[in-house]
Amino acid sequence: MYRSHNNGELRASNINENVTLSGWVQKSRDKGFMIWVDLRDRYGLTQLIFDEERTPKAIMEKAKTLGREFVVQVTGTVIERASKNPNLPTGDIEILVSELNILNEAKLPPFTIEDETDGGEELRMQYRYLDIRRNPVKNSLIFRHKVTQEVRNYLSNQDFIEVETPYLIKSTPEGARDFVVPSRMNEGQFYALPQSPQTFKQLLMVGGMDKYFQIVKCFRDEDLRADRQPEFTQIDCEMAFVEQEDILNIFEGLTRHLLKEINGVDVDKFPRMLFDDAMRLYGNDKPDIRFGMEFGELNKVAQHKDFKVFNSAELVVGIAVPGAASYTRKEIDKLIDWVKRPQVGALGMVYVKCNEDGTFKSSVDKFYDQDDLAKWAEVTGAKAGDLICVLSGDTNKVRAQLSALRMEMAERLGLRKPDEFAPLWVIDFPLLELDEETGHYHAMHHPFTSPKPGQIEMLDTNPGAVKANAYDLVLNGNEIGGGSIRIHDKETQAIMFKHLGFTEEEAKAQFGFLMDAFEYGAPPHGGLAFGLDRLVAILGGQETIRDFIAFPKNNSGRDVMIDAPAPIDDEQLNELSLKLNLK
Ligand code: AMO
Repeated sequence: MYRSHNNGELRASNINENVTLSGWVQKSRDKGFMIWVDLRDRYGLTQLIFDEERTPKAIMEKAKTLGREFVVQVTGTVIERASKNPNLPTGDIEILVSELNILNEAKLPPFTIEDETDGGEELRMQYRYLDIRRNPVKNSLIFRHKVTQEVRNYLSNQDFIEVETPYLIKSTPEGARDFVVPSRMNEGQFYALPQSPQTFKQLLMVGGMDKYFQIVKCFRDEDLRADRQPEFTQIDCEMAFVEQEDILNIFEGLTRHLLKEINGVDVDKFPRMLFDDAMRLYGNDKPDIRFGMEFGELNKVAQHKDFKVFNSAELVVGIAVPGAASYTRKEIDKLIDWVKRPQVGALGMVYVKCNEDGTFKSSVDKFYDQDDLAKWAEVTGAKAGDLICVLSGDTNKVRAQLSALRMEMAERLGLRKPDEFAPLWVIDFPLLELDEETGHYHAMHHPFTSPKPGQIEMLDTNPGAVKANAYDLVLNGNEIGGGSIRIHDKETQAIMFKHLGFTEEEAKAQFGFLMDAFEYGAPPHGGLAFGLDRLVAILGGQETIRDFIAFPKNNSGRDVMIDAPAPIDDEQLNELSLKLNLK
């Protein structure tokens, strides 16, 4: 028996018991006549004591050889501590050790295994198994488990059935590139790893499963960011005989349940916002609504003077940053540099200080008088003490730029509080999105999303204006889920493929199986998928999903611990009929 108890459970009530513990040496303090060792496992820390007077000499000698991260087993008696540690659940007791068994020695770890470590990101990733011993990482993984467990319970209680779908499939278009796997038995042919189980879950609806979910890995070859990994996990769901309203209600219920059970937070009915309003008011389809700073469009009150920059702009738009009128000239210049960074891309920024005495001081006083600026303040909702920041240019670009500035200012002002939760449904997304580079439309969500009733004819005349039965769930400025009501008849699906630029043959070759299934009694259906990694991170008060994934990839998509991806040898290449053409 390696242990009678774990290292987090012994209390004063166990005093005088004889116990056996196992774990890792967190640290050891050797005073010569007395040695204290903190023994760690997943459950906590227990202090061991070796004492010249009471511990056998051989054990005392052995204890002196213990180094950090040695794996040991000890037997001893639970005794009351002389100086108690109120910060530790086991802080009232210690173990007077009578037997010590070194189960495995350990090399000195490359970074300290403590809450605040001296190890950099790359080093911690290389030795992720050591990083996982640290409380912050360990607790994040336990937290993820709890969320996953709650999701499974909730959906199972609502009659959802978890069904596994295959990983070796054919491309499912979700807007990223596919990871592909060569097939040895089918020379020159490749599987694609699923970007999502989208087509399979629709086929499960045709198969009559009615309510499906799956906690499932998805694979997307796309540029990585703090909230994106090349392989990530979805809570993927689909339901038959439902309308958008049914889906929003069920998954609002799930999210509310998680906020309550995991975070102890009660949230009212989630607000809903039209996509068009989200773009107009926040410049973004995933607005963080924990704070204001809504956009004020200023064309009407800013394009009547001789200021060419504004007069030639498609959109002039501003936000009122609370309390920032006190910014010095230098601070404002820095802010202007910030919006001009290539990542944001603004050409410049006009500002108006709203003075406490009700007057205004702007960077464009040459063109605009106090009455003009008062109107800007009214439109942006600026109060005395605020700083109005105004950008101008092409509508889409300027909205994205001002949205970046809004988030940055919120961050600087501490308005993005991690323990405050503001969920939001964004609904009525456009069906199609214009790719500015190619001039082609592609599906904004995916090609299986249905247009709003009665709008399908508009695909011929004004494709960009057609709205979809598509929705996103946004939490604190992050898109944590998205879905749609699907097309469930062959004709509509064919029209959709045509508008996405597929020939009939191409559509048949790629999605013939789905179109065929639609001819065998496909029920009306719809669903959504949550990004589990994102959901867990945000519930955990963070936005970097890496910390909630046991073995994540770095920003270049590499696993630095196992050193993947890696070349394969010629024999394997031959077997797969592959020939490399490296530059
Ligand atoms: P979508 O593409 O919106 O929808 O994905 C659903 C959710 O998955 C998360 N997500 C990611 N998380 C981490 N890393 C990534 N690379 C990544 N990409 C997406 C996001 C996103 O909201 N089949 C549809 C769902 C449906 O229509 O039912 C789909 O995959 O949180």
